[in-house]
Amino acid sequence: MTRRLRPRPADSPLLDLAGNDYLGLARHPEVVAAARGAAARWGAGSTGSRLVTGTTELHAELEAELAAFCGFEAALVLASGYAANLAALTALGEAGTLIVSDAGNHASLIDGCRLARAEVAVVPHADPEAFRKELSAHPGPALAVTDAVFSVDGDIAPLRDLSAVCRAAGAALVVDDAHGLGVLGEGGRGTPAAAGLAGQPDVVATVTLSKSLGSQGGAVLGPARVIRHLVNAARTLIFDTGLAPAAAGGALGALRLLRREPERPARVRAVATGLHGRLAAAGLDVTRPDAAVISVRAPAPGEASAWAERCREEGLAVGCFRPPSVPDGISRLRLTARADLTEADLDTAAGTVARTAPPGARHPA
Ligand SMILES: Cc1ncc(COP(=O)(O)O)c(C=O)c1O
Repeated sequence: MTRRLRPRPADSPLLDLAGNDYLGLARHPEVVAAARGAAARWGAGSTGSRLVTGTTELHAELEAELAAFCGFEAALVLASGYAANLAALTALGEAGTLIVSDAGNHASLIDGCRLARAEVAVVPHADPEAFRKELSAHPGPALAVTDAVFSVDGDIAPLRDLSAVCRAAGAALVVDDAHGLGVLGEGGRGTPAAAGLAGQPDVVATVTLSKSLGSQGGAVLGPARVIRHLVNAARTLIFDTGLAPAAAGGALGALRLLRREPERPARVRAVATGLHGRLAAAGLDVTRPDAAVISVRAPAPGEASAWAERCREEGLAVGCFRPPSVPDGISRLRLTARADLTEADLDTAAGTVARTAPPGARHPA
């Protein structure tokens, strides 16, 4: 089956459980006003590479506030979370280095490993012992890389154990917190903060500004010396135009709103739990959400896409993951929670998913 693009109208009637706007901020008036204000003041584009003309005072402000919020010494904003992952892995994974990568990692981390000149070892999902074995067998510099919240099933990586394994081996830990920022940790400070790892000298995090912060862009967070190294070595920073001012302004507006409304992350987690409870009660094979992502197992790839299509016909947008996008060969629907969903929305969403389920999607009664 070939993929196709479906332009979304501005006033789509679909109930959206497919996007990543976890805190419901992408269209929040304050965030939109911040984006608009940034475009009016700084222009539609950043005009150049971050190293030439593409670093405005707004970028510097966003970096300072993001680093402080997440508990890291410094931050570097890039054009996307994808570019942030490539930046971190290619700049830190030099020749002679070993990168140990979780088998469930996001495609952008996989691509970062491919582009880095380092040797790469892929280890079984969420298995600190497998990381330890690889790291202890490598004599030179090394780093371990993992999603904090895995993007398909929404489970959390064993970050404390991974950090202990890395520290014992003298390796750095790179954590992609795309799905944790704004959802986990006190007030949404993210998964490294929740695990007590933010600001540690051997921990680097990457985030996206496009999910909980409702905007666009990405960032690497870490010790100031690491960020300085990235400025000099990360090709996705050096050879890419700086993030558009509207995106930087929108993300900064969202971050300030999140600081003022720290109850939003708890609400999105409660929505995820409520959705899980309803789907499990309907007999579906559904993952228990550690953050905002829930996946519902489908019997086969064709049935998964037909199921997602039936949901859409009934007014509900859900994601659909099938092999080869998922290396474990399991097809599933992927549902995302949003802080602004009501209990009635959850009833509607779960009712639609259950009603349209193919035979074989339910546990035997
Ligand atoms: C785990 C993870 N990392 C990185 C990214 C890339 O972020 P961006 O969309 O900002 O490029 C995504 C999703 O888009 C993601 O799910």
